[in-house]
Amino acid sequence: MSRMSSNRFSVADQARQSHPIDPSEPFNLSWVTGKTIVITGGASGFGASFFKKWATAGANVIIGDVDDAKGESIVRTVRTATDNRNHHYLHCDVTDWQSQVNFFKQASKLSPHGGIDAVVANAGVVDVKAKFNEPENLDMDDPPKPDMRVIEVNLVGVLYTTHLALFYLPRNPGSEPADPNKSTSNIEESPRDRHLLLIGSMASLLPIPQQTLYGAAKHGVLGLFRSLRITAFTKGVRVNMVCPYFVDTGILTPAGRMLLAGTSLAQVEDVVEAGSRLMADSRISGRNLVVGPRLSIVKTEQGEWQYCRKEENQNCMEVSLWEVQTDDLETSDVFMRRVIGLMNAAQEMRGWILWTKDIAKVLFTWSKSR
Ligand SMILES: NC(=O)c1ccc[n+]([C@@H]2O[C@H](COP(=O)([O-])OP(=O)(O)OC[C@H]3O[C@@H](n4cnc5c(N)ncnc54)[C@H](O)[C@@H]3O)[C@@H](O)[C@H]2O)c1
Repeated sequence: MSRMSSNRFSVADQARQSHPIDPSEPFNLSWVTGKTIVITGGASGFGASFFKKWATAGANVIIGDVDDAKGESIVRTVRTATDNRNHHYLHCDVTDWQSQVNFFKQASKLSPHGGIDAVVANAGVVDVKAKFNEPENLDMDDPPKPDMRVIEVNLVGVLYTTHLALFYLPRNPGSEPADPNKSTSNIEESPRDRHLLLIGSMASLLPIPQQTLYGAAKHGVLGLFRSLRITAFTKGVRVNMVCPYFVDTGILTPAGRMLLAGTSLAQVEDVVEAGSRLMADSRISGRNLVVGPRLSIVKTEQGEWQYCRKEENQNCMEVSLWEVQTDDLETSDVFMRRVIGLMNAAQEMRGWILWTKDIAKVLFTWSKSR
């Protein structure tokens, strides 16, 4: 089934965006079998959980991290458990361009088929001590330079990873351009892929008080996702994103745990479930899943979601995955919608002759300027 509208300037169609995801629909994790997947920050937390899950399902996984002891240890464990020596740990500091260049180069050499099918830009930190925009002493002549490590790891590092992914993924031998209209048998027959999975956060969508830099970095990752999903198809690359709510991993500080005491957290397994669906089903493109705490909810007659108790309502269901930016390529970005509407109207009025004239003018000006 092709995507949404028959509109000639449908951005979603042009960008090969797949249909909204129904998280209640099952997917087949065995579709990751034989894929070579590269994960930054893979030594602990989500990265390590993705690694274990996908390696167990038959993928070859190469993780990069700054924590060499943890990285090497988890690779030893997973190699033994899966009886597969194609899993590797490589030292990679995502803030260091050359370190990431070496990581990708070595990963593609180590890959059994010489290419990289998927990249997960996962490495991240929080820094509760980083003071930003709140100098403690207003009597100083100049405020101290802010510590930008959170931006360097969570945004600049992700941009480096993305830049390298967009170089390596289209060079993946035997891979075909991402295609939301693939059939199930097509996925099984040709597992070669070109997939970039970005790990954002709830902080990509909402502010977290006192975590200004973290919020800025994660909003940046969302901006990256929204920009890339319009253009990455030109290289046949599919781009997806996962935005988890707070989860009890190494990144959560004692202060954060105190603040969240008594509240429901999201679960690592649900983050892995969301990432696995996006990783396995190579038809999914341009989609962003939020992973929240598990909630029992029911849809009212007015179409709104309400909290409910399973014992009292048989329609009650447990949900932790939600899709965001579902149709915003088409509708919710009012500015884009207006522009697209105007483009459609202009196109109707001007026709192809004027379009050809415009293009000829651009080419003439360009050739003169060379
Ligand atoms: N746990 C949460 O509550 C939560 C919520 C939303 C988003 N996230 C995001 O999920 C991602 C993974 O975090 P996690 O929860 O698994 O935390 P984690 O601390 O368990 O894992 C992060 C990994 O990144 C590695 N890392 C840190 N700096 C690095 C660098 N410069 N180069 C390479 N690796 C580096 C760490 O060594 C660690 O192994 C992060 O991007 C984080 O922002 C986490």
